[in-house]
Amino acid sequence: MRFDILTLFPQMFAPFLENGVTRRAFASGQVEVHLWNPRDFAEGNYRRVDDRPFGGGPGMVMLADPLQRCLDAAQQSRAQALPEEEAVPVVLFSPIGHTLHHGAVAQWAQGSGAILLCGRYEGIDQRFIDANVTHQISLGDFVLSGGELAALVLLDAITRLQPGVLNDAGSFQQDSFNPALDGLLDCPHYTRPEVWQGHSVPAPLLSGHHAHIERWRREQSLRLTAQQRPQLLQQARRQGRLTAQDEAFLRTLPAAPDDSDIAGH
Ligand SMILES: C[S@@+](CC[C@H](N)C(=O)[O-])C[C@H]1O[C@@H](n2cnc3c(N)ncnc32)[C@H](O)[C@@H]1O
Repeated sequence: MRFDILTLFPQMFAPFLENGVTRRAFASGQVEVHLWNPRDFAEGNYRRVDDRPFGGGPGMVMLADPLQRCLDAAQQSRAQALPEEEAVPVVLFSPIGHTLHHGAVAQWAQGSGAILLCGRYEGIDQRFIDANVTHQISLGDFVLSGGELAALVLLDAITRLQPGVLNDAGSFQQDSFNPALDGLLDCPHYTRPEVWQGHSVPAPLLSGHHAHIERWRREQSLRLTAQQRPQLLQQARRQGRLTAQDEAFLRTLPAAPDDSDIAGH
């Protein structure tokens, strides 16, 4: 799997590539990352990569030409390294894209990678986007200063799904949104000490009884999902993923609020 990232700030990526559980995947080349700076493809003494917007208004716009030369170089390098690869996706991070979610991450994790474009300033000349971009991805309804954090988010989410990357094989399957967890939210977690500032670890987790622990975890997932993301619970129900035992437990809970009632939604 290979990612080619076009960014005016390649130095933002090094700390991420060298730290955390995913670093081995980058060091071994299981997930290859190639950084390309459009400034290296800009012309003139000032190596200009942006200019004022036609029509006026605040801010600057990334120039199409340096970006196109940079993208062409990344595509050529990729074609040489992966001659059998079909057209590589060109992803732009942008507030107008589809909001990233687990299903999309899981699909990207099955692929051979992509070229990722990190916008800056007011954005990129639309003609370059129209000519080259195949996918647009947003992190949510807010505006970042640049696409680098979004690229790092996608890279991290994809890399942790690669075989052998997490210390505990398959542990990602127990994470929130995963089909193995029926798309529900993860349960709460506890570690030593058994009592912290007067608060005990829930008794089932100390029971040593595997079935009781599993049931407690399932019920906590159901409770949290019902409280925080009722639509995920409805989706699991529609997909026939809730058992009669799950439904009986859910009936013991207070009525779930609408998604719109929940702080932060
Ligand atoms: C300051 S933003 C430009 C915002 C743009 N003028 C707008 O209002 O939609 C600069 C760059 O940050 C990235 N960016 C900003 N918000 C984002 C988001 N929610 N998701 C993904 N990328 C984002 C994009 O690459 C964008 O080109």
